[in-house]
Amino acid sequence: MSQPRFSQKAITEILPRELIRWEVYFFPELESTQSFAGDLFRKEGRYGIFVATNYQSAGRGREGRKWLSPRGNDLLFSFVLMPRHGASRLPLLTLSAALAVCDCLRSLLDLKPEVKWPNDVLVNGKKVCGILTELVKGKGGEQGIIVGVGLNVNRSSSSFSPEIREKATSLLIETGRRISRLSVLGAMMKAFEDEYFLFQKGHFEEIIRRWKGYSSMLGRRVSLHAGKREVQGSVVDLEDSGALVVLLDNGRTESFLSCDCMFV
Ligand code: BTN
Repeated sequence: MSQPRFSQKAITEILPRELIRWEVYFFPELESTQSFAGDLFRKEGRYGIFVATNYQSAGRGREGRKWLSPRGNDLLFSFVLMPRHGASRLPLLTLSAALAVCDCLRSLLDLKPEVKWPNDVLVNGKKVCGILTELVKGKGGEQGIIVGVGLNVNRSSSSFSPEIREKATSLLIETGRRISRLSVLGAMMKAFEDEYFLFQKGHFEEIIRRWKGYSSMLGRRVSLHAGKREVQGSVVDLEDSGALVVLLDNGRTESFLSCDCMFV
């Protein structure tokens, strides 16, 4: 049977409605769903905005990096929340979104995804999804959080640049078949609403516990880049705030709330 087209109507129909009434925007092409959602929130100050596209001409990743994806193959979307717990808990929302992606990949496709702090989902050790969580202020001072998801669905290995080909993957590469973006989106957002419910209730320890269940980071050696600082050590724990606890090679234990992290 042919799949319904990836469109505003199809997306609206597949999104869950239990917790949030999503207001869906779909564009065949856009600079960045993250920027569009942020701009709309700044103007209108409301949550539930959901923006998806088939192609981004200026997709953004963490630390000012570009997020490149060929036209019409992957999931590229951003959505706006106004959570109860504000900016201090922002890292936990990134973890919640990563957990939702993992739940979806496991239940829908029988894959064995892993989370990699702070914002990646890996399959077979390669990045399949990146999450960008940003804080935005509305005109009236209200705080919104934009969660942006870039999930490699149907792109082939040759679509990655040579520098990242060894480190990145897609659902097509991992399963050997084309996957319906709509089914993945629906399952992921359903799982996200469950995570968000935990978050809104303040069950942070449960989010951390579930995150650890999808992580092979504890005990692993990592290299961390925070601004100009670069340190190495072994991962000891993940705090309730979402901070990564690392026993550094200088013998000190330190918590990192947000920085680049690589396995060494
Ligand atoms: C990262 O791993 O650096 C995060 C990547 C986030 C990319 C997504 S794609 C949809 C949304 N729009 C953007 O411009 N970025 C996010």
